[in-house]
Amino acid sequence: MPVTAGRRRSALPLALWAGLLFPLACARSGRSGADEPRFDAPSGPPGDPAIPARVAAAFPDAWRLPAGARATFAPQVMAVSNSPEASAAAAAIMREGGNAVDAAVALGFALAVTWPEAGNIGGGGYTVIRMADGRVAAIDYREIAPLAATRDMYLDANGNLTDKSVYGHLASGVPGAVAGMAALLERYGTMPLSRVMQPAIALARDGFVVDTALAGSIARARGMVTRYQPETPYFPKGEALPAGARLVQPDLARTLQAIAEQGPAAFYRGWVADSLVAEMQRGGGILTRQDLQGYQPVWRTPIHTTYRGYGLLSMPPSSSGGVTTAEAMNVLEQYPTLPPYGSARWFHLVGSAYQRAFIDRNAKLADPAFVPVPLAQLTSKTYAKRLQATISETRATPTRELEPQMAQAAREPEHTTHYSVVDARGNAVATTTTLNNSWGSGVWVRGAGFMLNDEMDDFAAQPGKPNMFGLVQGEQNAIQPGKRMLSAMSPTIVLDRNNQVLLVVGAAGGPTIITGTSQVILNVLEHRMSLADAMRAPRVHHQALPDSLTFERGGIPPAVLDSLRGVGHALRELRSLVNVNAIMRVNGGWEGMPEPRRSGGAVGY
Ligand code: GLY
Repeated sequence: MPVTAGRRRSALPLALWAGLLFPLACARSGRSGADEPRFDAPSGPPGDPAIPARVAAAFPDAWRLPAGARATFAPQVMAVSNSPEASAAAAAIMREGGNAVDAAVALGFALAVTWPEAGNIGGGGYTVIRMADGRVAAIDYREIAPLAATRDMYLDANGNLTDKSVYGHLASGVPGAVAGMAALLERYGTMPLSRVMQPAIALARDGFVVDTALAGSIARARGMVTRYQPETPYFPKGEALPAGARLVQPDLARTLQAIAEQGPAAFYRGWVADSLVAEMQRGGGILTRQDLQGYQPVWRTPIHTTYRGYGLLSMPPSSSGGVTTAEAMNVLEQYPTLPPYGSARWFHLVGSAYQRAFIDRNAKLADPAFVPVPLAQLTSKTYAKRLQATISETRATPTRELEPQMAQAAREPEHTTHYSVVDARGNAVATTTTLNNSWGSGVWVRGAGFMLNDEMDDFAAQPGKPNMFGLVQGEQNAIQPGKRMLSAMSPTIVLDRNNQVLLVVGAAGGPTIITGTSQVILNVLEHRMSLADAMRAPRVHHQALPDSLTFERGGIPPAVLDSLRGVGHALRELRSLVNVNAIMRVNGGWEGMPEPRRSGGAVGY
């Protein structure tokens, strides 16, 4: 099935922040519900050997996202995120001559305005880039524990874990997003911060129309946000802003304007820092001016692994994303080919590989500035061979036989956000950013207009006890002042066998980030699905403990479920797993696809 077949040609005028009108290839998903026009391209010459022909996928009858849909196509540039407005900001910056890094930073700041449940300046994240000249880099702007943080700060007098690592002023790590995005722009961008931040400033100052996805998110957050601040732009007079209303954020616009004019110092040292510290003091938080002034992002070497000759660049610790993805995919690579997608054996092998990789993730990974991390061993093919040898074809291995402990998925994870950007030169940016929980700690900084993270919960607040996502982690990820909490974020760039960018991908969803991102990659590389099918395919998740294979409702036929039970898998059903945003190179350009289970926009030209 040629991926470029059958697209309709249409130039969709999209109003942008400064009243500019650009013809853009653009699709929104899950927001307007409309099947909007897509930019079309002539079919490219068949047979680009680096991108083997796609193969039609088949999904179970009961699955709600049938195969055969199409992604958005654009010949030159593409930006995909959970916010159509933020994706449009990125495309517009590239239209003005910016590269993918300029565009990604514009997108990141715009998301802090238009997707405030996860887009942020009060949180942190990770970016992996691959420049067209072959340079690769990763930047870690994860939050750090405040200097006054202590190992047992979330335990009550009886030694029981409280919810203070999740809600309220004590839950925040020192935000890294502003410093990280500014450092990325300075090293790899071409435009000044003041220019790339204009879309975000305009969106905050002039407002934008709240769609149903954002309205739903605001409504769900009412209790946790109004508890700390009764009136915010999301909750005027304490009531949730409905779909169709205009969200105007004057305080946030002022903050963004200050950062645009003065750089990150405005956030870490100026009046914005004063507002943040005042908010902390008002609510009993421990984050100080000294914490803010001391924050530094860290440049890192991406995890570079291969899968059947394709290259994978992903995020090293302090995120577990790249290592765990590499480990699981290395295990699967030991099989000459994987079984057909969706077969019982496929679910068994893929689940078993994840189970083993997560055992190591939860026991061995943490901030490398504080604990030794055996990166080379965990990502080696030799080690993967040993792990693969422990997978039986006829029996699911109980996690307790492999290692003593690890993780529990408490609920369908809903938080974080990922965006992917490529430009006409082939520069590629993958960024995942988060406040942790949707709407973070629930605390909105008065006067400065942004939400704060509850990233402290990603530490093992009580080693051996589950965190918000059920992850049971060890002593290596215990709280220490200045330490980065372990993450699962997995911004990833896949290179084809000619070393050109093939996929730019990543996800939101706690531990399921790792399994969701790698399944989209497997679907493209191993099962040769189109990007749309790779994104719509039912997903599965295993994280060692609970010792169960989690699957999406309707995504596995009853007979396959019976087979999986037959070999000993405990099965757990959720409505939906993971929120992925991806771009894939195709003949003649790029395809972009926001998560079909959630909302978002792919915008290009
Ligand atoms: N806050 C989720 C993660 O970093 O994995």
